[in-house]
Amino acid sequence: MAHYSSVSSAMIRSLILLACAWGAAVASHQPAASGGYCYTSMFSFGDSITDTGNQVSFFPTAPAASPPYGETFFGHPTGRYSDGRLVVDFLAEALRLPYLTAFLRGKTAEDFRRGANFAVSASTALGQEFFRARGLDLTIIPPFSLDVQLEWFKGVLHSLASTNHQQESKDIMARSLFLMGEIGINDYNHHFFQNRSFTAEIKPLVPMVIAKIANATKVLIDLGAKTMLVPGIPPMGCIPRFLNLFPSKNPNDYDKLGCLKWLNNFSQYHNHALNQMLHGIHRDTKVTLIYLDYYEAMLKIIRSPQHNGFTKKSALTACCGVGGPYNAGSLVCNGNATASNLCPDPSRYISWDGLHLTEAAYHVIARGVLDGTYSRPTIPSGCTY
Ligand SMILES: *[C@@H]1O[C@H](CO)[C@@H](O)[C@H](O)[C@H]1NC(C)=O
Ligand SMILES: *[C@@H]1O[C@H](CO)[C@@H](O)[C@H](O)[C@H]1NC(C)=O
Ligand SMILES: *[C@@H]1O[C@H](CO)[C@@H](O)[C@H](O)[C@H]1NC(C)=O
Ligand SMILES: *[C@@H]1O[C@H](CO)[C@@H](O)[C@H](O)[C@H]1NC(C)=O
Repeated sequence: MAHYSSVSSAMIRSLILLACAWGAAVASHQPAASGGYCYTSMFSFGDSITDTGNQVSFFPTAPAASPPYGETFFGHPTGRYSDGRLVVDFLAEALRLPYLTAFLRGKTAEDFRRGANFAVSASTALGQEFFRARGLDLTIIPPFSLDVQLEWFKGVLHSLASTNHQQESKDIMARSLFLMGEIGINDYNHHFFQNRSFTAEIKPLVPMVIAKIANATKVLIDLGAKTMLVPGIPPMGCIPRFLNLFPSKNPNDYDKLGCLKWLNNFSQYHNHALNQMLHGIHRDTKVTLIYLDYYEAMLKIIRSPQHNGFTKKSALTACCGVGGPYNAGSLVCNGNATASNLCPDPSRYISWDGLHLTEAAYHVIARGVLDGTYSRPTIPSGCTY
């Protein structure tokens, strides 16, 4: 099933990765109508849906370090797996915060005063040792899982609250917005891409992945976090790379949008478990845990692409790829190799590179996250601390 083997070097494979991205975007030039957000900083965790430069700082030949990544916004590659901004960037704009500094690129605590981004492309909720024990090829699985990202965060918090540590760090936590994810899809992807059994090995991971996210959520709450966004995973059956990986001759395997039913069902299974977990987390009434429905957001865009300026025929096709039915025949869009299959106008496409979304799609999703369409409950505005 995986088409990776055609990619020769381990480095390149590592790039590949994993992260599927769907994010969301908020209105950059149009601050949320409700406006008036009062958060003084934002901290994010996750994978390539959210990574704004961590992976490329230790892996300078990763795909996101080359054009055409970044061609629409920034005008050059930044380490983001998109042609431009991600949901986290649109959120920062809406909150009137600077774009978050990628943790591995920050030099002093001051770089993180308004926030930090700990997300690493291809990273997982479960620790790397889990994948090692399963005998998976680790070249594409970075040792920066959720627990590691949390340890990084604790270090940053400690350096920001240097004097009256206890009180200062509680204050910082209370005034910050946390974006916990998307994280978890790579735990599945690494298995899928290495031909592991869905029933025997992948599906049973769900409770373990959710438990890791639960732990991370509790750790932040214990440190004093009051407002946290926790995204679900997108409909995997609508992701070009998966459509290419699992072709079926049976028309009944596809829904009327052309997405793989069994994979979308799997995404729902994960998201349902995530929701159950969030509802069950013990917390006081001052803590708001907000589920972000990336699943419904993506589906809605795919259902009526024209509504947001996308073309119907490109709804399930990557803008940048190396050909094949979904233009997602190999794992990444990367500069020279793909020039012939780079679409002229990414804003007409939903999928950027077969795994991650275009800035235009992230923007639509982010707008829905901010206006409450895809956030349950709505992100509190005004000063709640
Ligand atoms: C919870 O997260 C912390 C990181 O802050 C980690 O050290 C700990 O092992 C995690 N516990 C579980 C049960 O995953
Ligand atoms: C997965 O299976 C496909 C088809 O059998 C094969 O071409 C590919 O090399 C396998 N990939 C891995 C990582 O084992
Ligand atoms: C959908 O997922 C549920 C929960 O895992 C499972 O019981 C059911 O068999 C799945 N249905 C299909 C069509 O895959
Ligand atoms: C792309 O082509 C340019 C010019 O031919 C070359 O300098 C560069 O190294 C190539 N990049 C990749 C990723 O192959």
